[in-house]
Formats: sequence, C-alpha cells, structure tokens
Amino acid sequence: MTNSPSSRLQTLPGNYFSEFTKRADQLRIKGVDIIHLDIGSPDMPPPQPVLEMLSTSAAKVNHHGYQPHRWTPAYREGWANLYKKTYEVSLDPDKNVVPLIGSKEGIFHLLQAMLDSDDIVIVPNPGYITYTRGTQIAGGKIYEKNLTQTNHYQMVFSDIPSAIAQRTKILWLNYPNNPTGATVNQEFFEESIKFGLENDVLICHDAAYTQVAYGDYIPPSILEIPGAIDTAIEFNTLSKSHNMAGWRTAAALGNPTALNALFQLKSHVDSAHFLPIIDAAVTAMQTDQIWIKARNRIYEERRDILLTGLKDIGLEADTPLAGLYVWCSVPENWESEQFAYELLENTGVSVTPGTVFGTNGEGFIRISLTAAVERIKEALDRINDWIIYGNSFLNRR
Ligand SMILES: Cc1ncc(COP(=O)(O)O)c(C=O)c1O
Repeated sequence: MTNSPSSRLQTLPGNYFSEFTKRADQLRIKGVDIIHLDIGSPDMPPPQPVLEMLSTSAAKVNHHGYQPHRWTPAYREGWANLYKKTYEVSLDPDKNVVPLIGSKEGIFHLLQAMLDSDDIVIVPNPGYITYTRGTQIAGGKIYEKNLTQTNHYQMVFSDIPSAIAQRTKILWLNYPNNPTGATVNQEFFEESIKFGLENDVLICHDAAYTQVAYGDYIPPSILEIPGAIDTAIEFNTLSKSHNMAGWRTAAALGNPTALNALFQLKSHVDSAHFLPIIDAAVTAMQTDQIWIKARNRIYEERRDILLTGLKDIGLEADTPLAGLYVWCSVPENWESEQFAYELLENTGVSVTPGTVFGTNGEGFIRISLTAAVERIKEALDRINDWIIYGNSFLNRR
C-alpha cells in the first residue's frame, strides 16, 4: 500500500496513555467523576510575571515571525545562568546549550541524530518510554538494564557486560526517576561518568524532575562531575520545574559534539518556537526562584497524605525524596494493568500501570501527585471502600 506507515513505525506498540484515557473519557461522558492521578502534568500555574511577559511580548507586532534555530541569546543564557546558580556549573550558552521544544522532543531527536543501525543504546527498565521508542525508530538496538528495588532502582554499571559496553553508543539515566521516584547522589554520577569515559559512551541524563524535591534533598546534576562535559549531556525542562508542561520549553546541555549533532538534525525538523513563549520562559528562569520551595511543599504534603492513606489501605510504597510520583505495589495476586483497569472501573481513580514503563514495572502502579489534597483524599476514600469493603464507587452512584 502506498499510504501504509513505515515498517519501523508499525512495529511500535500504541501509546498506552491514549488507550487508557479513552476508557476514562467514556466513563467521564457517562457522568463519572474521574480523579486523574495518572500523567505527570503539573496542576499549578507558572508565576504571574511569566504570564505577564507572555502577553506583553505577544502584543508586540514584530514578535510573530520565525525565530533563529538557536532561539534567543537570552534563552540560552537563561539556562547557563540557572546551572551556574543552582550547581556552580559553567556552560557556554553558544556551545553547551541547545534549546528544545520540550525535552521529549530532544530525547527523541538526539537518538535520530546519533545512531546508526545496530548501535546499542542502554535503557533503564522500568524507564521513560521515549528512550526506547526513539531508539527503535532510529534503527538502534536496545540493551535493557534492569532497575530493581534491591538496588534502589539505581543502575549498576559493573553488571553491564564489557562486550555490550564496548558496542554501546548511548546510555540513558533519569534521576529523580520516573516512574520509581528513585534518587541518587553525586557518587552515582561519578560512576556514570567513569563508565562513559572508559567505554566511549555518551551518557544522557534526563533531569526532568531535579527541581521537584522534598525536605533537605537536593538532586544533583550530572554536569557537576569533573569530565562530564567530555561524555555527557543533560536534558532539562521547565515543564515540571516551573509548572510549564504545556509551554514546551527545555534544553539539552553539556557535550558540544553531541549537541552539535542534535542541533544539526533539529535545523531540518523545526523552526524554533513562538517568541512570546521564549521571552516568558526567560522570565521564568530569571525571576526569584524562591516560589519553587513553597510549590514543592505543596507536593510534599500531597505525597505524605497519599503515603499514609495507602499504608492504611495496606498498599506498600517507598517514600520518594523527589519527583512527582509514588511507586506503589499492587495487592497480591494482581497484575499491574488488570489492577489499574479495575481501579478505574470501580473507583473512577486513574493511575498508570507500572508495565507502561517496561516489564520490570510489573507488580506496581505509578500514582501522580498532580492533584489537590482534597482530590487525593477523595481518591483514597474510594480506593479504601473498594479494596477493604468491596464497594464499587460506580455502583453507589
Ligand atoms: C522522565 C521524563 N523525561 C522527559 C519528560 C518530558 O518532558 P517535556 O515536557 O520537557 O517534554 C517527561 C515527562 O513526563 C519525563 O517524565
């Protein structure tokens, strides 16, 4: 068929979220009050000056045309300054920063820019699925590295066979981790950089959740490690850090050679972003960042209420020190997808089955903290009623 999709595309499974969302939507249309604790889309807005800059910039008649592929100098400097202030890492805005229309876009395109057929990419299982899908579309080979509860979901480099390491081009890391909530310290990143330098592997650290942290824990950046610039890039985004998921403003930072390849590919794909969004993103990076602490305390309160409620119901979960998710075991004798499905059908609470992130997600669901305390309490009440008393919320209506 002339209009059939490529065989590479046809081998990819459908997007779980769209299928599951369809069912949640059907229930919603029937009048069910669905509580979404599934995707990690922040439910709070960015600070007021960001919104004001968007409209001020949009009101200018000459702000509506194409922008340079490297966006504005202020946007790149914004990221470099943020890294200087937060991690004392010095980055050249012209060599070490590539603007992205969301880090998902950058993750996908980096793989297209770097891989030849059969190059190996090491991806965490469980992990953010774009590392895998981007590799499959690029024609690379996946080597799955299991993340286990025993190892606190940290990648163990010494377990990677040297024959694999030698043929590997890219290795993906993501801490604070989606979906497990696992975190790491600087020593872990030192080991990662050592692995990269010794095996000539590009270490790609996805730092989407580094600004969402609880208590005294400060998530490190991989770029803090000496030698990182020679073997690593970090993907960062305003999506979670600044409540700007819909704005699509992110950056890849670090190794100039890999960033050049990414930039070159992107110059064939997109034409930068809308200037008012770029300007507002600069404001987000420049304004006093103190509000982030208060915002994180809101997530922390939600986390604590959720963890206490789950424990009372008899569901086990570790306490994440950062990120937007609680990784929770499903009750005995249940499979993840079956449990998430029945949970939706019986309580109207939508969570994500762990298997969406890989086979090692079996036995878990991921619960997102992106809903208000009252909604989380309501979700816990419904789950309690169903699991402890066998009452279906939907039958009660
Ligand atoms: C681990 C991880 N990386 C990247 C992204 C994508 O972020 P962005 O909104 O910058 O595309 C997400 C979004 O949920 C994520 O969980």
